[in-house]
Amino acid sequence: MRLSRVSAVLFVIFVLVSWWIIVTPITNLLPDASNHAADIDFLFKFMSVAAVAVFLIVQGFLLTFALKYRRRPGQSVDTLGSDIHGNTRLEIIWSVIPAIFVIVLTVMSIKVYNDIIASHKGAYVVNVTASQFQWACEHPAYKISESNTCHMPANEQITLNLRATDVIHSFWVPEFRIKQDAVPGYPTAMHFIATRVGEYRLICSEFCGYGHSAMYAKLFVMKPADFVTWAKQQQSQSTGAIGAVSYKKDVSAIFTAHCAACHIAGKLGGLSLGSYSGLVAGGAIVPGSVFKPGDHKASVLWKIIQPGTGQPGGAQMPLGGPYLSKHEIDTIAAWIDQGAKNN
Ligand code: CUA
Repeated sequence: MRLSRVSAVLFVIFVLVSWWIIVTPITNLLPDASNHAADIDFLFKFMSVAAVAVFLIVQGFLLTFALKYRRRPGQSVDTLGSDIHGNTRLEIIWSVIPAIFVIVLTVMSIKVYNDIIASHKGAYVVNVTASQFQWACEHPAYKISESNTCHMPANEQITLNLRATDVIHSFWVPEFRIKQDAVPGYPTAMHFIATRVGEYRLICSEFCGYGHSAMYAKLFVMKPADFVTWAKQQQSQSTGAIGAVSYKKDVSAIFTAHCAACHIAGKLGGLSLGSYSGLVAGGAIVPGSVFKPGDHKASVLWKIIQPGTGQPGGAQMPLGGPYLSKHEIDTIAAWIDQGAKNN
């Protein structure tokens, strides 16, 4: 008797903990920010509640029968139960009910899935490139691109074309509720409307190497008018010629922010510097190859700071970011084209 009381208490604790484990995520979802979120949240909650119900019914029967048919004091160990050969009605019931349930869940899931994968004509297109370990977003409509940020207009149909340059990554913004792998050699896409203006975290949710946990970017959903203003600003920044670049004023700060942690007094990737004046003095740290004054496109320094390239020898810099913005990359390019002087 005492043992069954202990079992009963343990069972109640078990049910409460299970309930807490299931209910906590349901009631603590992040705010939703895409047109698919409500449907997906409903499906998630519906399935979770259904799972809890099944769990309670099954465990309820288990407990009831365990207590009801327990061996009582004075009862012989060898007492045999009555010989039962099935119960057709019961067996049909416990087959049909779960089958109906699975069919309902399947139909609901297919409906949501079809909504998610449906592409829409006239959608605003963003080409997203994932590479170890950074994100780049390109806007064909404005011919601009950004590195480790991604901007998009709210309340407009969006198509994200995803590609990966090295291994599989996965595009995930938890508030959007949808997720899509970026696979090398196999273009994938996401279709949605971002419904809430704000700043979000774009996370890589597929293990992709030693920098995976740091592979995230800021994603901005903007009011459509603000987005257009932003895009035009970027356009003028990228097409407008960068004026005279000063090494001391403009370039040195970029190097300090992005490169110094590893390459000053370090010995990484063949580029080991006492200070950046060494780099400016002649570019001979990796003999003849760091940069070619007057020609940024022929300079390794420029190649390795491009998002998504693995130059040289698969450099992915700097590990964990913050990576260089387009404006910073353009500034370095202009500085090289202007002769890479220590001015
Ligand atoms: Cu990219 Cu994980």
